[in-house]
Amino acid sequence: MVDAVRWVRTPENRHEVHVLDQRLLPLRTEFVVCSDHLEMASSIRDMVVRGAPAIGIAAAFGVALGSQSFRPDAGISYPVYMEGVSRILGETRPTAVNLFWALNRMKPLWVSSPAGSPAPTDLLFHEAQHIKDEDVRLNQAMGAHGQLLLPDTCTVLTHCNAGALATGGFGTALGVIRAAIGAGKVIRVFADETRPYLQGARLTAYELLEDGIPTTLITDGMGASLMAKKKIDAVIVGADRVTANGDVANKIGTYGLAVLARAHGIPFYVAAPFSTIDFSLSSGEQIPIEERSPNEITHIGPGVRIAPEGVSVYNPAFDVTPAAFITAIMTEKGVFKPSEIRSMAP
Ligand code: MRU
Repeated sequence: MVDAVRWVRTPENRHEVHVLDQRLLPLRTEFVVCSDHLEMASSIRDMVVRGAPAIGIAAAFGVALGSQSFRPDAGISYPVYMEGVSRILGETRPTAVNLFWALNRMKPLWVSSPAGSPAPTDLLFHEAQHIKDEDVRLNQAMGAHGQLLLPDTCTVLTHCNAGALATGGFGTALGVIRAAIGAGKVIRVFADETRPYLQGARLTAYELLEDGIPTTLITDGMGASLMAKKKIDAVIVGADRVTANGDVANKIGTYGLAVLARAHGIPFYVAAPFSTIDFSLSSGEQIPIEERSPNEITHIGPGVRIAPEGVSVYNPAFDVTPAAFITAIMTEKGVFKPSEIRSMAP
């Protein structure tokens, strides 16, 4: 399975993190080598790595890379320096709460480092790797719970990429599909292309084909007619942030799919680990929604303009699906109704 973020030790015993450049997939497989937190922050901001859990994992490694770059003779204390590292990583993308979850999880390891002692860089790398390995296990558990809701033969519509590329491995929404196939079910997938960044066309189609999972690529506007023709049995998507009332932020276009699914009596499932649940927010209205460059809409790829110069553009990267449209939320701890999420707060 594809590996989005990989920790590497160089022969000189330095740490690097090799990030699969998802901007180039499926045409080229290349890695961006990150040696410090600034390079990792750029990789997150520029979408080399994307998908909520993978962003969290990348940020955790970014903290460790930042620690490696600390110079005791630079006139700044380690905790003050590390606050800055964390802040820079936290300013990359605002919507996926896994980013802030991972930074908070790394903090106790550097904050408690005694003054004058060596920076706990190795410890931070091991914790980042632990977060990544744990994410794979959580996804497998989520898949095991979630696949029980799918019939033995089933066609699933998914949006964006919530697969191995978006996580430590296995995937959330695509993990449920993988688990269902592992349980002997016959699953077909319709993948929305996911305008404007085309995560569905470029990443989900690539990832599922690599695994030999029968996949049909469609444009985002085709879901309604497929549902009307009874070609879809379930919709499964990932999430960037789930709030205490069960509202879900995910890739732009998700909300529309949920409304369509409701209109056609089709179950609409969200697959997300607990690291994606933000119990501090009471509803989806409070989720910060990232707005991205107009170029993503006016151009195809980096260079081909498809819209007239000067047209005004609105490009929110995510929308919020109200809890009322969500049949169930699949997690590593089991499957919940959106209204049950609040009671799961730690
Ligand atoms: O802008 P992206 O590609 O980071 O958006 C990704 C999504 O919206 C995914 O559906 C979500 O992060 C879940 S990934 C398991």
